[in-house]
Amino acid sequence: MDQRPIGVMDSGLGGLSVVRLLHQRLPHESVIFVGDQQHFPYGTRVQDEIRSFALIIGKFLVQQNIKLMVIACNTATAAALTLLQKELPVPVIGVIQPGAVAAVSLPYHDRIGVIATESTINDGAYVRAIKSLSPKTTVLAKATQPLVAIVEHGQTGTLKAQRAVNEQLAVFRQKPVDGLVLGCTHFPFLTKEIMQTLGPTVAIIDPAGETVQLVARVLTKHDALATTTDKGQLTLYSTGAASDLAAGARKWLGKQDLTSKHLALF
Ligand code: DGL
Repeated sequence: MDQRPIGVMDSGLGGLSVVRLLHQRLPHESVIFVGDQQHFPYGTRVQDEIRSFALIIGKFLVQQNIKLMVIACNTATAAALTLLQKELPVPVIGVIQPGAVAAVSLPYHDRIGVIATESTINDGAYVRAIKSLSPKTTVLAKATQPLVAIVEHGQTGTLKAQRAVNEQLAVFRQKPVDGLVLGCTHFPFLTKEIMQTLGPTVAIIDPAGETVQLVARVLTKHDALATTTDKGQLTLYSTGAASDLAAGARKWLGKQDLTSKHLALF
């Protein structure tokens, strides 16, 4: 019984793929979303830098009186989850462990592919998380950083997007996998293109589903689910171009009245 909002962050609009599912599964929860477009992309930055951005955003969200934070960014989860869990006075949830749980829950998970940013792949977080749950699984991890900008710049559904996906995912045609983890929150917005490239036999895993289940479990445990019958509110902040985030949110969340505010945090 806690009407306070859930705080969500990403480097850009990818985190909206998690917000979308939060709204579907927990429709009474309010959300404050921060897209750090000023520092986009995170995937080519060093982890120290990502950690400091994530901590500043986390502290801002705590000032907004959130009850829980979701790092809806795999790159920031790999770099900063432990730090934020230590520093912030609210529960903090990342997307990598949920993604790994979803991968090993597939009926066939002998060979799992992971696509993510350069930083997430270099960190090795997914390989560690999947292997610790299922040591026999072979994990094929591939950095597909160019796909991030395609989504952020609104180019999904174009020939350019399909070509980039074909090129970036070629390795999974040569070395087939049972499932592919979308290890960057921007990638669920390229699901059509990815399915077109890999065909129907590869299971596509969006960590958002398992992440939102974890949010529900943690809120239930703390007796902190929203009890109102009203729909939750969504407040959007961008550290960069607020109009770009609003346009992305209208497109991906299907709500034409969404607006975004600029946040001068840095
Ligand atoms: N959406 C982010 C992720 O899940 C980061 C993309 C980027 O900024 O490079 O990793």
